[in-house]
Amino acid sequence: MELIDGKKVSAALKQEIAAEVAKMVAEGKKRPHLAAVLVGHDGGSETYVANKVKACEVCGFKSTLVRYEDDVTEEELLACVDRLNRDDDVDGFIVQLPLPKHISEQKVIEAIDYHKDVDGFHPINVGRMSIGLPCFVSATPFGILELLRRYNITTKGADCVVLGRSNIVGKPVASLMMQKADVGNATVTVCHSATKNLKDICRRADIIISAMGKPGFVTADMVKDGAVIIDVGTTRVPSTLTKSGWKLRGDVDFDNVAPKCSFITPVPGGVGPMTIASLMHNTLLAASHAIYK
Ligand code: GUN
Repeated sequence: MELIDGKKVSAALKQEIAAEVAKMVAEGKKRPHLAAVLVGHDGGSETYVANKVKACEVCGFKSTLVRYEDDVTEEELLACVDRLNRDDDVDGFIVQLPLPKHISEQKVIEAIDYHKDVDGFHPINVGRMSIGLPCFVSATPFGILELLRRYNITTKGADCVVLGRSNIVGKPVASLMMQKADVGNATVTVCHSATKNLKDICRRADIIISAMGKPGFVTADMVKDGAVIIDVGTTRVPSTLTKSGWKLRGDVDFDNVAPKCSFITPVPGGVGPMTIASLMHNTLLAASHAIYK
């Protein structure tokens, strides 16, 4: 069994980006600039956004954080999106999700200029991805494919089971894994809450990508010997062992599943760190106009 070290790959990816930025700046080009919009004080979102700001420093990017309280109106938030769309200094930006209930996430996502949509959530980027055109690929799916690529895991012809059908992970990663590409070209099955015989389907899988948010859901009896397990789950569960009083748990019963696998991602330290590195990658693409001229 080989552990997939997302921390190490993510650090390498950020160093590659930093080297590219140093080259751009030396050539007199502008430093890439990522902005993040954070509404409210959700613990998870605060951590993600703080990590994004830190990653910008590592990569040599300029970063801007725009904060609003929970009671910001949809109109105010849309006006902020409009300002960022028109700000020539900002190459890309994200609006951290989830948003408060009184704001339509879909409306906000669709208001973002797709040329600056480094989250890859805008329907134009999602649509282009699904037909294999250049686009911003959302960060978690991109990070997963990058891990598979850097660990030389064969995906061509593999039976790949995706657990979960969210717009952020399940659907896009399923779409990428079936695409005819070096990483992809797999036979993909997407399982969700209405799936029958989920355990049997998992048992046939060469690769399982679990993005359900159900701690310990994937048990050893669902995993074929030699399978590759990618665990996207990051649920906070109470813990007496940490200062914060919680720890992150993945979807996979790691201790019992890991001995059966050829490769497995830990939680934390697997897919999580790759998500942020992928956002940095997209920001560099935005700044260098690599996707949209
Ligand atoms: N909330 C959880 N993951 C993400 C992400 O990748 N981007 C944004 N904007 N919000 C999130």
